[in-house]
Amino acid sequence: MAYTVPKLEDYSAAALDKAVEELKAALYQEADAVSNENKWKEFRDRWMARKNGILTQINDLWLKAAPGSAKREVGARVNQLKTGVASIVEAKHALALNAPVTFTSQGIEIPRAKDWESFRKLATDPVLDITLPGIRRPLGAEHPVIKTMNEIVSVFRAMGYSVADGPEIETDYYNFESLNFPPNHPARDTQDTIFISGQEKKQQRDRLLLRTHTSPVQIHTMEKHPPPIRVVVPGKVHRADTADATHSPIFHQVEGLAVDTNITFCDLKGTLDHAMKALFGSSVKTRFYPSFFPFTEPSADVQITCFKCGGKGCRLCKMSGWIELLGCGMVDPNVFNFVESNGYDAEKVSGFAFGMGVERITMLKYGIDDIQLFYQGDVRFLEQFA
Ligand code: PHE
Repeated sequence: MAYTVPKLEDYSAAALDKAVEELKAALYQEADAVSNENKWKEFRDRWMARKNGILTQINDLWLKAAPGSAKREVGARVNQLKTGVASIVEAKHALALNAPVTFTSQGIEIPRAKDWESFRKLATDPVLDITLPGIRRPLGAEHPVIKTMNEIVSVFRAMGYSVADGPEIETDYYNFESLNFPPNHPARDTQDTIFISGQEKKQQRDRLLLRTHTSPVQIHTMEKHPPPIRVVVPGKVHRADTADATHSPIFHQVEGLAVDTNITFCDLKGTLDHAMKALFGSSVKTRFYPSFFPFTEPSADVQITCFKCGGKGCRLCKMSGWIELLGCGMVDPNVFNFVESNGYDAEKVSGFAFGMGVERITMLKYGIDDIQLFYQGDVRFLEQFA
């Protein structure tokens, strides 16, 4: 038998309680049966229609009919039922649309129930104690890699550098060709990556790949801005590397580029020496070790004195006293030739570039021995950096 609103014979607390409980039982029972949009509309109208909906009926049959002495008490209950019915009707609708709902029942937030069953359980739980403190969500903290990345960026910002970013999916042109890696040049093998499939018909320079370094943003930046330039580029990069304690197919770099008239290797050395001291402490010394990158000439690896043993030799620095930290060099004139029409005349301007691995620097700073710890999301690891 469908529920009908009874007339109240007496207005005692016990009689009111009973009437309210019966109404609520009917409400939940009918809500259980709502299985589609049309049924939901019927359900909504039966309970909430202005004309003769159940809420209207209790207003007439319970509240208006109540003697003056009971009006206050009945009014409070009718009002509660009005909010209750409205939230059940609304929850039922949201949940039918698969939207998790947060509701307040008896003054308590019901946290994001995902389906009607769990919502119903929470909403009707008689032991909800509204005097208990709510659920405290722990505050999140910056991930150590992001933290280091921000630190590196702010060291350069303090020297007047601006910050740029670029796409993680690049063309062969930006990732390789314009950085002076000619097609089929063996230097490409050092930065093996993932190509988007099905691009055989495209010219090689237009083929899309996951960028292997942040250096393509050097070109993007120079295409957009004439010299002078001082820019750092934090970002995510990809290599076809197997994950182990020191390799990850996805990692982060911070790139730097300075172009102006009369920029020399001395500027490069002074800038990076200052940056390493800012990051690792003022007592570290730097050394520039000859290296090779197609887009810089000359190129160098920057090493710092081992901050653990002070240069005497220990396990961290493999007994050498030095730790290799980043790649750098003077921008190769061939690179300027690719952006000549944007105001970069290789005869007139010069510059330097550098790129550093953020994970590696973070590992050294904090003595972390496994790069995989950064990506596993283990709170016991991450909370140490909060
Ligand atoms: N892009 C180089 C790498 O990923 C690093 C680098 C950047 C070297 C800028 C020189 C200049 O290995």
